[in-house]
Amino acid sequence: MTVTFRRNIARMEGYAPGEQPQTPGFVKLNTNENPYPPSPRVREAILAEADDRLRLYPDPAANALRRQAALTYGIDPSRIIAGNGSDDLLAMIAKAFIGERDAMACPTPTYTLYDTLVAIQGGKTVRVPFPADYSLPKALSRKEARVTMVASPNSPSGTAVPTAVLAALADEVRGVLVVDEAYADFADDTALPLAHERDNVIVLRTFSKSFSLAGMRIALGFAHPKIIEGLNKVKDSYNLDRLSIAAGAAALSDIAWMERNAARIRRTRETLIAALPSVGYEPYPSQSNFVLARRARGGTARPAYEALKAKKILVRYFDTPRLADCLRISVGTDDEIAALLAAMRKLRQPRPGGL
Ligand SMILES: Cc1ncc(COP(=O)(O)O)c(C=O)c1O
Repeated sequence: MTVTFRRNIARMEGYAPGEQPQTPGFVKLNTNENPYPPSPRVREAILAEADDRLRLYPDPAANALRRQAALTYGIDPSRIIAGNGSDDLLAMIAKAFIGERDAMACPTPTYTLYDTLVAIQGGKTVRVPFPADYSLPKALSRKEARVTMVASPNSPSGTAVPTAVLAALADEVRGVLVVDEAYADFADDTALPLAHERDNVIVLRTFSKSFSLAGMRIALGFAHPKIIEGLNKVKDSYNLDRLSIAAGAAALSDIAWMERNAARIRRTRETLIAALPSVGYEPYPSQSNFVLARRARGGTARPAYEALKAKKILVRYFDTPRLADCLRISVGTDDEIAALLAAMRKLRQPRPGGL
């Protein structure tokens, strides 16, 4: 074949999303989805929207969703942009701010899509390792970085950075600070006010986790109107379809539903955290809907991941030096977590080549 990709595209690895099993029957604790259904208002809104109007393009500005978001969060719609999931907003940020050889700085390990998006732009990622306790690394603020990206709560650690620390970072960096709050509804704190108070902070929220809408692809970005204006220049014209706009607005109109589910998940998370040492894993403190757990005896957690998968329980394993002794476990229902813990307990029973 004589097709010629751009050099950086030819060289890079594509992003590898978490596994979505093609057969039913898995306890799925690997991609941080919500185990509870979305608000019934979402289904009603989708059905109401699925009529003759599907012939017509959707509203390019997703006004119905942004107006509802303005009400829910008390933020002017001029400071809000809608995305086809946070991944879409992250791609807009990369397009708008990162050119060839421009730098994005982030603490690592973190969401690996950041790296991929920067590589697509031909930019470079400055990776600053988190210390062992996953507090924000001191060396993160880099003069050369056009974008500093912090997931808080972070994936895969589940740990959060206090808002005061993020505010200080926003003052230190030269470019924009992006706070990816995909998991903020499961946390004690939010940096959302910073999107108001500073002109260089973008806060991202997704509907994939707390709102139980990973299948719809809906997210919001909050920032100074000038930043929103710039992001609008690079966004796909019709990035949210009609059904997603309606679903997102309906989900936001029933915030109590989301909050009830988030509270249940936080309770189950604490049960999981308390039980993990009894099955040989040390949990990191989590502010999200998953827990990173390190094998107390050291060594790789891959056999445990594989043995659980053979029992149709999917958790996330990362084959990297820093994470090879860890499993990342999404918080499912109480029953799912009980099934996981029972399976992990069995794995510990002594047998030749036991785990
Ligand atoms: C930190 C972080 N940001 C963003 C995303 C993607 O969210 P969305 O489904 O809205 O694209 C994820 C998904 O797992 C994530 O962990």
